[in-house]
Amino acid sequence: MYHLSLQGSTTKSDIYIGAGIFSQTAKRIAEKFKPTRIHVVTDSNVAPLYLRELCAEFPLNITTTVIPAGEERKNLETVAGIYADLSEAELTRSDLVIALGGGVVGDITGFAAATYLRGIHICQIPTTLLSQVDSSVGGKTGVDLPQGKNLVGAFYQPELVLIDTDILSSLPERIFNDGMAEVIKYGCISNPDILELISAPDFKNNMERIVYECVQIKRDVVQQDEHDTGLRMILNFGHTIGHAAEKVGNFTALSHGQAVAIGMVQAAKLGAAIGEADLTEQITTLCQAHGLPTELPYPTEEIYTALLHDKKRDADTINFILVHPLGTANIHKMPLEQLHQLITAQ
Ligand code: GLY
Repeated sequence: MYHLSLQGSTTKSDIYIGAGIFSQTAKRIAEKFKPTRIHVVTDSNVAPLYLRELCAEFPLNITTTVIPAGEERKNLETVAGIYADLSEAELTRSDLVIALGGGVVGDITGFAAATYLRGIHICQIPTTLLSQVDSSVGGKTGVDLPQGKNLVGAFYQPELVLIDTDILSSLPERIFNDGMAEVIKYGCISNPDILELISAPDFKNNMERIVYECVQIKRDVVQQDEHDTGLRMILNFGHTIGHAAEKVGNFTALSHGQAVAIGMVQAAKLGAAIGEADLTEQITTLCQAHGLPTELPYPTEEIYTALLHDKKRDADTINFILVHPLGTANIHKMPLEQLHQLITAQ
């Protein structure tokens, strides 16, 4: 088992990573909180698998919200439903909310916890690889609006994150592979040893270490730039073109991990085109080995148009994350004109 602490501006997050951590939930919570009430938010995919086991851990009466699974529920209406359940359960600021699920559950519940009573305690229990290595750590919470994804949110660190790597063995391969895109990202931006680890034929037996290495990078980056004003942008390697591709596909054709994989390969091509190390083949091979796509399935003009709406865009440049050499990420201010030329030349 590994333990990491993330010191945020107002909150210290304790992160435990290991096989079987789930069965220690009550113990870890008792070490940190003194709740008289606990409310669990989960979704319709995760509830049948883990909710009963989780509730059985506690002597208290646990109340629950089970939301229908799916990104389309990541909205203010779902948050309002959670507020209503928290109010009905009479949670106070000394009580605790648990987010049990993947990224959607974590983001929505984190936002509800950040805003209910102006902030109540939250513990994240991520159940997908993507949420274990990325979204459950670092305090980004939020929901989508009809106008766009993640347009409403808050930075709100979970005080406790319990990452049970045993849960990964029951994930469908497609969901597991989705998270591998983020794992590859961490290897590229900070620690190529991760790429070695995931290249071993039996790497799935080593997920505790692999997840730990990724979360450690995220912890270090977030601790230096909690509110995403500079360094934290490096966590977006592959995400700029990735988000554009997700958008062109109406957020249904490609999963997030698939889009990030394509985005990392495209970013590698752009890096090579402006004279940096050519990592295209290496990143392509890694993504393909983990069941991820690497080719843009849309016309490059459509991708460029979607890129113009990127949050990392300034008036006439876009902050593009490039890797050079492998294990080092740089924030490159790329003029839009150059980006257009390079993308459409591919
Ligand atoms: N998922 C990127 C970040 O947390 O900043």
